[in-house]
This record gives sequence, structure tokens and C-alpha cells, in this order.
Amino acid sequence: MAIKFKSKVGSIISEMAEALVLPVFEDTKTLPGPLDVVDRATKGLIKNLLLSGDFLGERYKTFMLYPQRALSAKRIVLVGLGKKEKFDLDVMRGAGGKAFHYVRDLGIKTIHLPEDILDAKGFSASELLEAFLTGGSLGVYQFRDLITTGREKIKEVDECVIVSQKKERTIEMVLRHVTILREAVYIARDLVSLPANKKTPAMLALHAQTIAKNNTLKCRVITEEQAQKMGMGAFLAVAQGSREPAKIIILEYTANRNFGPPLVIIGKGITFDSGGISLKPPDKMEQMKDDMAGGAVVMGTMQAAARMKLPLNLVGIIPVTENLPGGKAYKPGDVLTSLSGQTIEVISTDAEGRLILADALTYAKRYKPKAIVDLATLTGACITALGDYVAGIMGNDPALLSKVKAASEKTGEKVWELPLWEEYFDYLKSDIADFKNVGTRVAGTITGGMFLKKFVNDTPWVHMDIAGPTWYEKDKPYIPKGASGFGVRLLVQFLKDWSK
Ligand code: BES
Ligand code: ZN
Ligand code: ZN
Repeated sequence: MAIKFKSKVGSIISEMAEALVLPVFEDTKTLPGPLDVVDRATKGLIKNLLLSGDFLGERYKTFMLYPQRALSAKRIVLVGLGKKEKFDLDVMRGAGGKAFHYVRDLGIKTIHLPEDILDAKGFSASELLEAFLTGGSLGVYQFRDLITTGREKIKEVDECVIVSQKKERTIEMVLRHVTILREAVYIARDLVSLPANKKTPAMLALHAQTIAKNNTLKCRVITEEQAQKMGMGAFLAVAQGSREPAKIIILEYTANRNFGPPLVIIGKGITFDSGGISLKPPDKMEQMKDDMAGGAVVMGTMQAAARMKLPLNLVGIIPVTENLPGGKAYKPGDVLTSLSGQTIEVISTDAEGRLILADALTYAKRYKPKAIVDLATLTGACITALGDYVAGIMGNDPALLSKVKAASEKTGEKVWELPLWEEYFDYLKSDIADFKNVGTRVAGTITGGMFLKKFVNDTPWVHMDIAGPTWYEKDKPYIPKGASGFGVRLLVQFLKDWSK
């Protein structure tokens, strides 16, 4: 069960509530809006607290007060926003995450919030509400599907009620928007959290078909036999080592034929990356179930685009397979003929992501797309370069890259551009084929990008290496440790901006 949003006309004084949540700036001199209303009704409860110094509105600090029948609410939960000068929407999301988390851990199931949740210069009321609710609903995510014992102890917030003085359409729109985003991010997080034995390519294809059926999307699944006929030699080589039949999932969202050719989003879908014959070391290998995160992000984004009825046409392509060693597995030294006709010398079977993406990129060109964005947990080198919380982006079109960066700034999912200068291609030169799938040890993320570029040519394209931010090792204010769903909100924002 996931959190449901509701709006209700009423007053925060007289509304029955288990927990009325209010964000507070640090060093608040005059209490704004709802804080003032509550303070007056409680004869200075909040002012006294701030004077005491026990809680000053420090960023992400929470504090609970009992209004003792001065309000109909049983508890007031304050969450600090820190200093006004440092405030932005990401702080608002973080505060939402912290507040919802705090309430959830108390075992409380319903949260109440005033509609005019905060007054902050430069931000509209609905923007602030949206950020708080987004952070809140993403912050209380947990993946407990596979736990059977002690389920009764799992705490969950069921409901969040927005209290407003009169019925307002903008509130309904915010609630709907946040719900769609939340569901899309949860799709990605759930899929990435699942272990590989519970998300085989066939299972993911079924899942995509269900998403399609529920959301007026079209879904097609390309089988290995069909891929063979088309000549997808790079994709099939990776699939060869696994007994699980590989699939390429295609999801199509057509808002209107008049909008012309689609945008294409492609996601790497390796359900388990053992490295293949170039076997990975066993330490942390279990983590390689998250190597389909790009594909999971594409699935979530496709659903969101359809539910938001975005005015554009969109295609999602997800090549899905395991990468395993075995008697039939592809080997270092093998030369593959890709769908594009270009030949590839395999140096490492662990650089499999770029191989399946190569054929997916070539296939994408059939749509004559306006632009292509691919997302992939492609290189460990990207984590070395940028750390755990930042994606590397590369591309062939400065305007498209700017659009991705602009979306990233709005959603707080950080990206950093790396160059794709032609001389980097020297690392991929092969004596026996058109190029190799791996260079030397240097510039690992960039050579991955350079490899993909060979299959894109002129279509405006951005590649996003999400190896770092796909999985959080530590709790962040609104992203619990584990699968983050990184990329879903960014892509949805990018598509919204595109369609404007
Ligand atoms: N899926 C991995 C990349 C990865 C590694 C993601 C660690 C997250 C954490 C990818 O398929 C891979 O193995 N890449 C190799 C590339 C190398 C052989 C050029 C890598 O990063 O070591
Ligand atoms: Zn690999
Ligand atoms: Zn991989």
C-alpha cells in the first residue's frame, strides 16, 4: 500500500488530525501563515518553543508538540528548513522526506498539511506544496515485498490530507501530479530492488505489458528469434550465456500522430551482470541486480508520460538479458556484427551494456526520432569520477544536453557533462574489427560514451551513465538507502519542458 493524497476544505484549527505537519525556517522572527494561526490558537506554543532554543528550525530537524486540545490536532510536527538564504526546492523535498519519515516511525498513519504550507520568496505555493509532497512520498519508500515474518510491525503512512480554506483546482492538480511521479519512481525502485531470480527478461516483459495495458501504451516484445532475423548480433552475443531467453521491450506512447516522430528513451536492462567470462570479483556481486536500472527508469517514465497525457510521442526501448558465463557464453576476442553492420571486437564480456545498447540505438533510428536519451549503469569509472550521487552525461547536441541539465536542476537529480572528443576514439581502435568494446584503463566512462556514439550518428542524443546514483548506500533526506529511482523525475521534467 502506498500513500494516498486527499484534499479537504476546513481549518487547521478545527480539523481532527493525528499529526499536523508544519515546516519552519531557521531564525523565524515573525511567524508566517499557518504557524501564526497555530501559535495564536495555542497561546504561543510555537513562539515559546523557538524562544527556548530547543528547536530553531534547523535544517531537517524535527520536533513534536502536543497542543492539548487547543487545536483538534493531537500533535504538531515541526520540521526545520534551515536558513532562508540556502533554501531551494530540494530543501523543501528533503524537509518533506524527513517529516513523513518521522511521522511514519511514530506509527502514525495519516498526515495533515495546510495548503499554504510555506511562504518563500521566489516560489509559488503550489511549487512548494509539490516539492514537500514529492519529498514526503518518496522519503517513506520501503521495499518489503519479500519479507514474510513480522509484517505486522511494518509501519506505513497511508494518507496525507491537504487542508485548505476553499476547494482549489490547483491543489487537485498538484496532488495528481505528485501521485503520478511517485508511482513512476516506485516502479523503478521496486524493479531495481527485486533480485535477478524474480525479474528475468520474460518477467520484465510481462510487467511492461501490464503497465502498457493499464496506461494506454502499446507494448511489443522482440524475441531472440526476431532479433536474430534482424541481425542484432551485439545484443544476442550478450544473451548467449544465459538460459533465460532475452527480450527487447518496446513501449510506445502516441499522444497524437500530428506531433510527428517520437522522442526515444532507451534503458539498459541487464537483470544480472556477473561480468560473463570476464567474471567480476565476488565481493558485492549481488549488487549487480541493479544493472537494469536504466530500463526500470524507462518503464516508470513511460507510465508517467501516459498518465500526464504529455503532448508528445514517446518510445521506450529496453534490451533485457542476463550477462552470465557458461558453455555458450560469448568470449573475449569474439568479433560481433551489430545491427548497424559495424563489427566489434570483444575485449571484455563485462562491457556488455554498450553492446546491448548499440543494437537498441540502431533499432531506435527506425523511428526517425527527434532525439534519443539513453540511461545505463554503464561504468564503474563513472562512480570513480563523479561519486555516488551524480550521473555522467555525454552527447552530440549541446541544445539537448542543456535541456537535460535544466531538467536536472529542477528535480535535484545531479548530472555532470563529460566530453566526447573524437581523439578519445583512439582507445577503441581494433586491429581485427571496426572497433573494440573496451579501451585502456583511462577515461572509462567517456570511452563507453564514444562507443555508443558510433551507433547514433546525427540524431540528437544524450547518454546518461547512472552507475553511481542508481543505488544509495546511505539514507538521504528523501531517498532512503537502496534503489533510488534516479532519472525518472528528471526524464519526466525533461519531457514536460520539451512539450512546452
Ligand atoms: N554494470 C557494470 C558497471 C557498473 C559497475 C555499475 C559497478 C555499477 C557499479 C558494467 O557492465 C561494467 O561491468 N562495466 C565495466 C566496464 C569495463 C569492462 C570497461 C566496469 O565498469 O568495470
Ligand atoms: Zn558489465
Ligand atoms: Zn553492466
